[in-house]
Amino acid sequence: SNEPPLVFHWFPFIGSTVTYGMDPPTFFKENRAKFGDVFTFVLLGKKTTVAMGPSGNDFVLNGKLKDVCAEEIYTVLTTPVFGKDVVYDCPNAKLMEQKKFMKIALTTEAFRSYVPIISHEVTDYFKRCADFKGKSGVVDIPKRMAEITIFTASHALQGSIIRNKFDVSLAALYHDLDMGFTPVNFMLHWAPLPWNRKRDHAQRTVAKTYMDTIVERRAMGDADKELDMMKHLMNSTYKNGTKVPDHEVAHMMIALLMAGQHSSSSTSSWIMLRLAQYPHIMEELYQEQVKVLGADLPPLKYEDLAKLPLNQAIIKETLRLHAPIHSIMRAVKSPMPVPGTKYVIPTSHTLLAAPGVSASDPAYFPNPDAWDPHRWEVDSPNAPTIIRNAVVEDEEKIDYGYGLVSKGSASPYLPFGAGRHRCIGEHFANLQLQTIVAETVRHYKFRNVDGGNTLIGTDYASLFSRPLEPANIHYEERD
Ligand code: HEM
Repeated sequence: SNEPPLVFHWFPFIGSTVTYGMDPPTFFKENRAKFGDVFTFVLLGKKTTVAMGPSGNDFVLNGKLKDVCAEEIYTVLTTPVFGKDVVYDCPNAKLMEQKKFMKIALTTEAFRSYVPIISHEVTDYFKRCADFKGKSGVVDIPKRMAEITIFTASHALQGSIIRNKFDVSLAALYHDLDMGFTPVNFMLHWAPLPWNRKRDHAQRTVAKTYMDTIVERRAMGDADKELDMMKHLMNSTYKNGTKVPDHEVAHMMIALLMAGQHSSSSTSSWIMLRLAQYPHIMEELYQEQVKVLGADLPPLKYEDLAKLPLNQAIIKETLRLHAPIHSIMRAVKSPMPVPGTKYVIPTSHTLLAAPGVSASDPAYFPNPDAWDPHRWEVDSPNAPTIIRNAVVEDEEKIDYGYGLVSKGSASPYLPFGAGRHRCIGEHFANLQLQTIVAETVRHYKFRNVDGGNTLIGTDYASLFSRPLEPANIHYEERD
């Protein structure tokens, strides 16, 4: 047959589920060494074909609508959490329109207002958080970053009305919703298990909170001056002339917060752990702000972020080695020949892209395992070969229905995906993370608890590549 080589396994259904699940990047790298960029393994009884490297990324992420389908894979996890009729519980064309509505709300004007909101939330959090009470001490950083992420994202993206409800009860409900996002739910999403009951109750309650808010705001009419995401979605109309119904607005709001929460909170945790590992970089970040913004460090503005290249590179480099999404999957809808090979992927397979593999490949990133934010400077010895050897000029763009994105996705560095399912939250995430980092280095110096420079391992059991917990670091207030 023309199927790609199959990874050997002992048991029919389990296949390679355990070795893959424990450490996907190592699993990919080992099998790539054996088989090359394209191979198949059995994941929970399903033949799953991995396509790696820049051309594999392009093959999967730029697959045509007639060939690949995301919703078929993701809906069992996302629909009970987000709710009906949005994202993966509707035809792709509708998702493209929904992404356009969400993306249009994320304007430069909105971003300008988000930086002070986020700065304030971070500063306020450090003031009131019991774990940061002393002049110095030890904190379990992922827990703190999860809270900072939800307070900053809910305030900026969801507006102050929803943010104020977060302190009271929404945070606990979101925690229950979260429990639906677990790998066992790929199989047990339907089961009346305790966490699924909590998930369903939380979904109904959170959606109702949003829908009540929508009704209140509509009743306020012109008195409601806030121009936030919810307001924007409330005023959006599909191409066929229907207004976006309230329950879809509510479900999109949940989807936005969930999409942003895990990825941003995992990324900010890794950033802080890396800064604790390399305190001299944290000092450089502080000095960068002093030099560019002045020793009095005035309140951060949107325009300031672009003037802090090291602060930006921290995000880029952390996403290179700690991209929160290690496996991007698609159902195969028609037999797909893999360009440049004799392989044809049958419709019984699932396709899997793993852009994290090419992002840590020495062919594109010299000294790939080193977390070196300075590699994003052109003259660095570790500068990516893609930047040094090929400047992508006048890159061709395409519109899948939610705005222009790069047409080609044969890149080794795609932490935000590519093609019709590409992330619309990239700019928001960058702004949020850059602001959180800039504020944190103003307040604290971090180091590892033992003063060394080891790094904690990755927890792959949670669908997102976040740090194992507890992940403690030592902080000390700046004078
Ligand atoms: C899609 C990564 C933050 C909203 C994606 C995809 C990736 C990704 C890889 C593509 C998934 C696929 O092809 O199956 C990230 C990372 C983030 C981040 C690394 C932060 C560091 C956010 C934020 C939001 C968001 C903050 C919301 C404001 C979305 C949406 C999609 C998406 C709506 C589209 C899903 C689709 O079209 O199927 N993201 N994301 N993301 N992301 Fe993000």
